[in-house]
Amino acid sequence: MAETIVDLRGLPRSSAYAELTEQIDLVLEGIDDPISAMATISALLHSSLGFLWTGFYRVVEPGKLMRIGPYQGSLGCLEIEFGRGVCGTAALEKRTVIVEDVELFPGHITCDARARSEIVVPVFNRKNNLIAVLDVDSEVQGFFSDEDRIGLEGIVKWFKRTL
Ligand code: SME
Repeated sequence: MAETIVDLRGLPRSSAYAELTEQIDLVLEGIDDPISAMATISALLHSSLGFLWTGFYRVVEPGKLMRIGPYQGSLGCLEIEFGRGVCGTAALEKRTVIVEDVELFPGHITCDARARSEIVVPVFNRKNNLIAVLDVDSEVQGFFSDEDRIGLEGIVKWFKRTL
């Protein structure tokens, strides 16, 4: 495979996500394995946009528990209960959560002390069951906006189309 990961940090975020969505669809063509998709999406997002931590927590007990899946970055905590931290809140409420300052989010789970802001996006399959959340952390406070929500929600639609 001749695909390379490009540095998209200089682009407006919406253009970067448009390019990434195209690249992800291309790389994953013919694949229907969720773990392979999560690993590929984590690698592409993480390296091209320079995030601190990028990865998935997979639902292992619906409504109760998620376990860490493919990710890039420093060591993440292994399990997160629904309702706990930013990831557990996004899973319980089935909505994207943007945290501008992790210190102001009650119950935020610190995996890497350098993290300052975070976005967590729910991941659904074709039947609209929650199968995971995509968690992205940044060292920069207020790094994530509605553009990231739109871009990342678009990227995880791969699972809804494919699984
Ligand atoms: N900060 C997350 C936990 C996961 S790590 O950041 C990788 C949370 O509060 O849910």
